[in-house]
Amino acid sequence: MARKDRGDMLIPPDIPLSSEAFAWLARLVYDRSRICLGDDKRILLASRLAQRLRDLGLGSYEEYCERLTAVEGADEVVELIDLVSTNHTRFFREPVHFDILRRLLPDLSRRAVRDGRPLALWSAAAASGEEAYSMAIVLAEAAGERAGVDWRIEASDISRRMLDRCRMGIYDLAKVELPVAGWRARYFLRGFGEREGLARVKPALRRRLTVRQVNLFQDLYPVPAGQDVIFCRNVMIYFDQPSRAALVDRLTAQLAPGGYLFVGHTESLIGMPHGLEACGPSVYRRPG
Ligand SMILES: C[S@@+](CC[C@H](N)C(=O)[O-])C[C@H]1O[C@@H](n2cnc3c(N)ncnc32)[C@H](O)[C@@H]1O
Repeated sequence: MARKDRGDMLIPPDIPLSSEAFAWLARLVYDRSRICLGDDKRILLASRLAQRLRDLGLGSYEEYCERLTAVEGADEVVELIDLVSTNHTRFFREPVHFDILRRLLPDLSRRAVRDGRPLALWSAAAASGEEAYSMAIVLAEAAGERAGVDWRIEASDISRRMLDRCRMGIYDLAKVELPVAGWRARYFLRGFGEREGLARVKPALRRRLTVRQVNLFQDLYPVPAGQDVIFCRNVMIYFDQPSRAALVDRLTAQLAPGGYLFVGHTESLIGMPHGLEACGPSVYRRPG
């Protein structure tokens, strides 16, 4: 099976995954990440893991499960979650959120200046970084209009592999589709020679990001509280309802009073108890 970022082709795996081994792996993945793998995901999981087992020289899932429980298995658990998680993203995905962000900035900037601190934004399931850099572009454009407002963006994800890509900030040129002509030249460098067809985020924008691994369900977040804006989009769909509710509570606590939480368009918080005010399509505000 090809790596999942080349598309899940669901080729029948050559190493059989028993229902017992699947249930064990699904439990481990849930315990560590809250990602739910229903029974319908068995072939998908086997497809995604087949190459990993070959790379490790293992002939069965039972051996793989043993590897995961061994003392040195902690890194392999990270690898497993990496392979299981879905990392699809793109620049300015769900574009209305970036328009809303732009409109909120004057008020948020005034508060930050009043409190003598930089504006703080967090892309909490950043995958390979397109979301965080889209936020950064909106901020950079607004900063041009409002001199004197400093800002920082935290970009985090559970996947180390994705975070490496986020840090590098190198993307297929064809996928750098931005809503305004001219932004690509303003914020990206085009590759030449061996790097033809690639584009790299310019250092001035990359420096605005703090990239770090954060499991949304880990005990303490390394990201400071008092965030003005949190984007946590298109990740809650992989969690069950109790995990989503717990996550919304934790993210609410990370927001500054008057700060905003953006979730994916299919992840509205309807039916979930929370202390936020709904104020746009999948946009919520912490009162204060
Ligand atoms: C589909 S991507 C969403 C990317 C981006 N937010 C967007 O909307 O385009 C989901 C990301 O959530 C990450 N993820 C899954 N479970 C996580 C967890 N427990 N903690 C942090 N990140 C997690 C995955 O690694 C993946 O990169």
